Amino acid sequence: MGFSAGAIAATYCLGLTGCMQQQGIKPSGSVDFTIDISQSQYSALKNVGGYIRTNDVVIAHTEQDVYVAVTQICSHQGQPQVMYRSGSNDFFCTVHGATYNVNGKGTNSFGRNGLTTYQVDVSGTQLHVH
Ligand code: FES
Repeated sequence: MGFSAGAIAATYCLGLTGCMQQQGIKPSGSVDFTIDISQSQYSALKNVGGYIRTNDVVIAHTEQDVYVAVTQICSHQGQPQVMYRSGSNDFFCTVHGATYNVNGKGTNSFGRNGLTTYQVDVSGTQLHVH
């Protein structure tokens, strides 16, 4: 019929939300907030392996005195379903199974666009995420 491979790919892309995979999704807005892990709603962070989700950010206590913060918004299709898995010390999206290491690098095809990471400054029980 005279379609080139590029034309077929473009048609496919126009018709399916799967195109979002090719573009990646970055969270909008800046992140700059502080939490106090002595407060009960953040108590999961007191122990290594614990994590919380707040302000569209996942904060995990990955090692003694080490906290890692990444966006909760999966770069695959923009779903806010990223969580931390202490057993494998990585981040995981429950929607299609994207995986990311603690540096935000994608470790499977769904996660190939990576996750935005944030700096965490610790002062006593205060965690400043930015
Ligand atoms: S939205 Fe598809 S793996 Fe997260």
